[in-house]
Amino acid sequence: MRIKVQNLTVDKVKCDLLVINLFEGVKDPGGATAVIDKRLKGVISALVKSGEITGKLCEVNIVHTQGKLPAKQVLVVGLGKAADFDLDRSRKVMAAAMVEAKRIKAKFVATIVHGAGAGGLSLPTAAQALTEGCLIGTYHYAGFATIKNDSFFATEELAIIEISKSKIRDILQGVHAGQIIAESVNNARDLINAPANKVTPSYLAQVAQKVPGVKVTVLSLAQAKKLGMEAYYSVSKGSKEPAKFIIMQYGQGKPEIALVGKGITFDSGGISIKPSRKMWEMKTDMSGAAAVLETMRAISRLKARKSVVGVLPCTENMPDGQAQKPGDVIGSLLGKTIEIISTDAEGRMVLADGIGYAKKVLKVKKIIDVATLTGACVSALGDAASGIMANDQELVDQLIAAGQRTGEKLWQLPLFEEYKEYSKSEIADTKNCTEQGKAGTAIGGLFLELFAEDTLWAHIDIAGTAFLDRGRGYLSAGATGVMVRTLTEYLRS
Ligand code: BES
Ligand code: ZN
Ligand code: ZN
Repeated sequence: MRIKVQNLTVDKVKCDLLVINLFEGVKDPGGATAVIDKRLKGVISALVKSGEITGKLCEVNIVHTQGKLPAKQVLVVGLGKAADFDLDRSRKVMAAAMVEAKRIKAKFVATIVHGAGAGGLSLPTAAQALTEGCLIGTYHYAGFATIKNDSFFATEELAIIEISKSKIRDILQGVHAGQIIAESVNNARDLINAPANKVTPSYLAQVAQKVPGVKVTVLSLAQAKKLGMEAYYSVSKGSKEPAKFIIMQYGQGKPEIALVGKGITFDSGGISIKPSRKMWEMKTDMSGAAAVLETMRAISRLKARKSVVGVLPCTENMPDGQAQKPGDVIGSLLGKTIEIISTDAEGRMVLADGIGYAKKVLKVKKIIDVATLTGACVSALGDAASGIMANDQELVDQLIAAGQRTGEKLWQLPLFEEYKEYSKSEIADTKNCTEQGKAGTAIGGLFLELFAEDTLWAHIDIAGTAFLDRGRGYLSAGATGVMVRTLTEYLRS
């Protein structure tokens, strides 16, 4: 969808659908809504008085203009109570309006920036949120279906109308950022929604290599083996699909920060094989890698003044005669030894060497890893929040704050000393997991902390948030692209 900004009054704009708004409880609409109401001879205010239009959050009402305006139809979208309005509500409202535009097959849509005046948001952030809501809210994964239906209709253009010329620059700035970020989110969703026979480690490497402004190195399995990344390559031993360890560098000089993303393109569990029910969902086990790859694209396109490296250890986890087995002891790049209790706890294995590579080879002093790591995180937080754990509280606070601005909730889980007992091994430095399954998400976090050592580090478990069974707000069912926005926001702030 094209998005443009126009210096015009709302009653002059020619389009299929013009989106104006109303706060809940407002009986006498002002601003653009008042202008349109007047041209429509009071029909909107009459519907407000009769209680048909209430302004409740995301309520949509369509009014036909019958030649009284250049716009064919007007949509009044509810903004909810003015006191509760925020950036995420702005995304939700715009998504609701665009879904309605799609339903009535409106090709050309126009809107104003919602909530920048009475809603108290700054103009660039309000315009950014509006753009994100529009593009993320209308995402549709086309996949490989050859039979097209109504869900394939796409609005061609959104025009953002602003009466005052002095505000255009701020709006353009917000739209520019919103567009880049939303495109990255939707790219990540495409990678995650796509099946594992298409999105292989080699495919991810190809996509990474095409990201503009980013220097990409791809290590083959043989190279990873030679470097001593046994924790990583032992996971790939059961798969015939070539593993790829991808490094993406943006910015000048030594990277200040590394983003490490779990890139298991399919997690069958390996020899500790998973039950077949919903096993197909494990095509999404590369959501961390997708989030990092697309964050790298976003910060490069936004020309962020930072030096960042993305590390994506990618492989399948499959059972085979050559596959690693429960009870095996495996080494790692940092030299620590690991006793495999379950081959299904493979994410932390590839991340251990991802973190090790960031530390030992790239000499990075701050690391954030993102992974669909534990089913226990889904039990604890559902799909409402990602789990965050770290060895540095400031980093946690900054990431949680970035998540509040993007509407991606992060909830901190503790890395208690007591849990460390659970993964003690008699024959190696640590077990890769435990059998009793207590505090599963923290056990995963503590395992990674062992490899982060004294480096500033945070771990984000997105097992519950990467993929939705049902749509929620501006996110449809399926991949969410979670953490692209929060990581980008964190790196830009
Ligand atoms: N990829 C899974 C975690 C997962 C589960 C992601 C559900 C998304 C939805 C991970 O590799 C895994 O299998 N973890 C095990 C760890 C256990 C063996 C300690 C789990 O959660 O059961
Ligand atoms: Zn697993
Ligand atoms: Zn996994």
